[in-house]
Amino acid sequence: MKRILGIVASPRILGNCEILTRVIMDAAGSNNKMEMIRLTNLDIKGCRACYTCLPKEVPCVIEDDLNFLLDKICVSDAVVIAAPCYILGPHSCIKKLQDRFVSIGNKYEQFSGKPCVTLTTYGAPGWEGYTEPALNLTARFLNLNMVDSAVFLGAHPGEVIESPDNLKRARQLGRALFDPGYERTAKANECPVCWSNILKYEGKNIICPFCGTRGEIKVEGEKARLVFYPKSDHRFSEEGRRRHFDAFLNGKKQEFLNKRQYYKKLQSPYRNNLYWVTPD
Ligand SMILES: Cc1cc2nc3c(=O)[nH]c(=O)nc-3n(C[C@H](O)[C@H](O)[C@H](O)COP(=O)(O)O)c2cc1C
Repeated sequence: MKRILGIVASPRILGNCEILTRVIMDAAGSNNKMEMIRLTNLDIKGCRACYTCLPKEVPCVIEDDLNFLLDKICVSDAVVIAAPCYILGPHSCIKKLQDRFVSIGNKYEQFSGKPCVTLTTYGAPGWEGYTEPALNLTARFLNLNMVDSAVFLGAHPGEVIESPDNLKRARQLGRALFDPGYERTAKANECPVCWSNILKYEGKNIICPFCGTRGEIKVEGEKARLVFYPKSDHRFSEEGRRRHFDAFLNGKKQEFLNKRQYYKKLQSPYRNNLYWVTPD
């Protein structure tokens, strides 16, 4: 018996994310223990930028439901993460959660390698925006083993399962969770490291804004194609995390502590700011 956790980042009861998460979990096999969490119902507070959590042994000091969620992921054998597209990106509860991942950037071993699939729902053709690669960051920063991710079109609650193709794809994701032989089909022109199809451009060079992989646009006659040069020490690799969450952030914290008085001076002309307004 395996434990599967479904994390649903939609407030909509019996909405598309909820139903597809169920379809995926049910397809993963019989006799599994299933649990679902509606992320929008959890109390996940915003990161306070205190950086107290940087040492490996110090958890986030904010008291809310983050640890409940992380503990549930820890005891799961596989995770399904679902989010609807809201204004071209994932529902804001996903960003709020991701912001808290500074606290687990160097404490990810407990989640490492658990198979994960993600699903994005969206309602307007062509309006899926950056939802899928942004949602996938959730799994990447937890160091889950991303097996596959998919995007499903459907506006009304339940509309996604009107399409037999959607149901088929969701069941495929479910079966993939515990299938070591499953091979995901790469999409054209996606980043080979994090699968993002969103890019930044520097002349003819391309940069994946999510994992930082660089590449270039190769023009051959009338045709252009993207060529990526993946590196093993990318942002989500062990080395990449150590560089950012241990070396860089701790270095910045120490720098701030050393230059505290200097920054106080820099800030001083702005200290008597009378422009702030608040609701009554
Ligand atoms: C506030 C809000 C913003 C939305 N923005 C988008 C959007 O930018 N692009 C899009 O394709 N659909 C958008 N939608 C539609 C939802 O993504 C779509 O209905 C989705 O299936 C909802 O999934 P759910 O039923 O699991 O909540 C939006 C819906 C809401 C409520």
